Amino acid sequence: MNARMAWRFGRAAVLSCGTVMTLRPFGEGDFDRLISWVRTPDELARWCGTFFSFPLDRAQLFRYVESARQPNMREIFAAIGATRDVVGHIEISMIWPHLSCRLSRVLIAPQARGQGLGGLLVKRAITHAFETHHVDRIDLGVATDNVAAIACYEAQGFGRVGLWVKAMVADGNAIDVCWMTLTRAAWSTRLADAAGGPPG
Ligand SMILES: CC(C)(COP(=O)(O)OP(=O)(O)OC[C@H]1O[C@@H](n2cnc3c(N)ncnc32)[C@H](O)[C@@H]1OP(=O)(O)O)[C@@H](O)C(=O)NCCC(=O)NCCS
Repeated sequence: MNARMAWRFGRAAVLSCGTVMTLRPFGEGDFDRLISWVRTPDELARWCGTFFSFPLDRAQLFRYVESARQPNMREIFAAIGATRDVVGHIEISMIWPHLSCRLSRVLIAPQARGQGLGGLLVKRAITHAFETHHVDRIDLGVATDNVAAIACYEAQGFGRVGLWVKAMVADGNAIDVCWMTLTRAAWSTRLADAAGGPPG
């Protein structure tokens, strides 16, 4: 078994367990860690487009957390991995219960990428959105050149539904955005196909 196969085999075992990624509300105690994960203007733009400006700082994060107080505006989560360390960040926003919501600000700690954690994080947020908000569809937008993120979303069942050319300009660069959607029907089919595996 080569290293790649060993990694995939190990990751499949973790995924089937379904309990190694938990979400808790993002708060002030998480600010400095999150700031340390977004090290350059490029990284900031890749993570959140023009939502925050570089350098990310505590004042922007205070406003971010404050905005989550408005009903159905956004839920912001820190993600806890199997080691009980905070390994990621994710947001569910534009929540229209029984209709749709948006997945955004998806981030795995730089040192923890490429180990399957992004997939677990997205899977956990999807489950939360469908089960808690009873939405029929989850949407997201991702830069078309962000191959890691697109692969991560496709692996969790998201399909490409549209392209917005030059959707925004970040750090002087025009960004083309791919729109992706996961419907409740597609999610339910995936769960059934997983032969009775836990929803995550
Ligand atoms: C995108 C991100 C969340 C993915 O998390 P991750 O833990 O690195 O990804 P995973 O290890 O779970 O991999 C998920 C899938 O993407 C693939 N992938 C991961 N890194 C990749 C890369 N650099 N190139 C191509 N595919 C890649 C994996 O092979 C896997 O696909 P598979 O299940 O078919 O094998 C993470 O890379 C990140 O935080 N990036 C910076 C912020 C960002 O771009 N956020 C998204 C904004 S829309």
